[in-house]
Amino acid sequence: MNRPDSDAFVFFGATGDLAYKKIFPALYAMVHRGGPVIPVIGIARAGWTLERLIERAREAVLHAGDYEPGCFAKLAERMRYVDGDYADPATFARLREVLAGASRPIHYLAIPPSLFADVVRGLAAAGCASGARVIVEKPFGRDLPTAQALDRTLHEVFPEASIFRIDHYLGKEAVQNLLYFRFANAFLEPVWNRHYVKDVQITMAESFGVQGRGAFYEEVGAVRDVVQNHLLQVTALLAMDAPAGHEPEAMQAEKLRLFRAMRPLEPREVVRGQFRGYRQEPGVAPDSQVETFAALRLHIDTWRWAGVPFYIRAGKCLPVTATEVTVNLRAPPLAVFGGDDAMPANRFRFRLSPEVVIAAGALVKRNGEEMHGEPVELVVRHQTVTEKSPYERLLGDAIRGDTSLFTQDDSVEAAWRVVDPVLRDPQPVVEYEPGSWGPQAAHAIVDGEGTWHDPAPERKEV
Ligand code: BG6
Repeated sequence: MNRPDSDAFVFFGATGDLAYKKIFPALYAMVHRGGPVIPVIGIARAGWTLERLIERAREAVLHAGDYEPGCFAKLAERMRYVDGDYADPATFARLREVLAGASRPIHYLAIPPSLFADVVRGLAAAGCASGARVIVEKPFGRDLPTAQALDRTLHEVFPEASIFRIDHYLGKEAVQNLLYFRFANAFLEPVWNRHYVKDVQITMAESFGVQGRGAFYEEVGAVRDVVQNHLLQVTALLAMDAPAGHEPEAMQAEKLRLFRAMRPLEPREVVRGQFRGYRQEPGVAPDSQVETFAALRLHIDTWRWAGVPFYIRAGKCLPVTATEVTVNLRAPPLAVFGGDDAMPANRFRFRLSPEVVIAAGALVKRNGEEMHGEPVELVVRHQTVTEKSPYERLLGDAIRGDTSLFTQDDSVEAAWRVVDPVLRDPQPVVEYEPGSWGPQAAHAIVDGEGTWHDPAPERKEV
């Protein structure tokens, strides 16, 4: 399919946090890597000038760590700035002028979803939407009905094929490697099912708290912040069938089938925790019931996965910052060598961050006369030095029109359907000590099937 490159990058919310932390460093990195430099038009209602925006971009790039004046100058030369209210048609008329010869702009809405309607209608009315693409950020709504409303707003102006919803987890090298590892290796497929896999665990642990984002976090909580999106996306990549074809649509179709096979969560199979001290954070209600930790059991109703629990856990103020997936295989049907009952069964371990590691756990014979074993891991570590940041990768893909790593309306809505019962009917939050692995009650989620696998701290693993 012919997908022409976008010929201008427009971003709303140019003076905001996301622009500073992610967008400017990503745009700079693209230029630094020698990519084509298309016009970059920042829009905000901040009363700024172009000079001020360029200065802000320079600070952002410096802050991200890599700054070469000559390279930055190439980006700065192509920058433009439009100041104005998003509800004012004059703002979009000015944008139209600044876009000049560009006929296929890409518009990045780095703004709160409540402003989307004004912006997409403003773009359409000024003639800036035809042939254009649009990028939006999570959160895509706060539950199923709000996500559907958001999609309706976007669809008023943009066809689904022109909408790029960013889930930055999908831009991570490690997450793509998970997908690659699954479908590039023939040895995996025969065991990747209910006959060999006992359970799957995904833990996303963060050792820090809400880092001054208390007011934002109060509106979200762990389920909306990282489970509905990042962790269900990882689950989908782990569990989906192989796509039939190379087009991005083939991959999306398989992912969608998987999302639709996820059974909506049972509130009693979800433990919600809150770290002690969260309620004293600025912007947090003194009686807040928002979870900073969630542990849950997910079921996938397909022939491949029937009866295999997927345990998902995410939390703030846990002992380490690391995201890890373990796929635990069943024990051999008979123990040929006595005394090894307590040994771990085979497993695959995918460490998605901070380092990228793929490991296969096996048992080998321990030195000596007895037939006793010990667990070992065959480990592959990735060097991540030259890796693109998720934002550089995803913005580049969006500019080229490649939708493979973006989420579609139906998948996002299906993911909301999975978590909605917990949002509608949440169990009370249980307090946990900062620096612990969450509330004791979380153990009950895996009870009878084993224990949670706790990821090791950075670089301390075998
Ligand atoms: C964001 C969440 O989407 O992902 C944050 O809003 C979380 O709460 C972050 O800390 C984690 O992403 P990463 O890439 O830093 O591991």
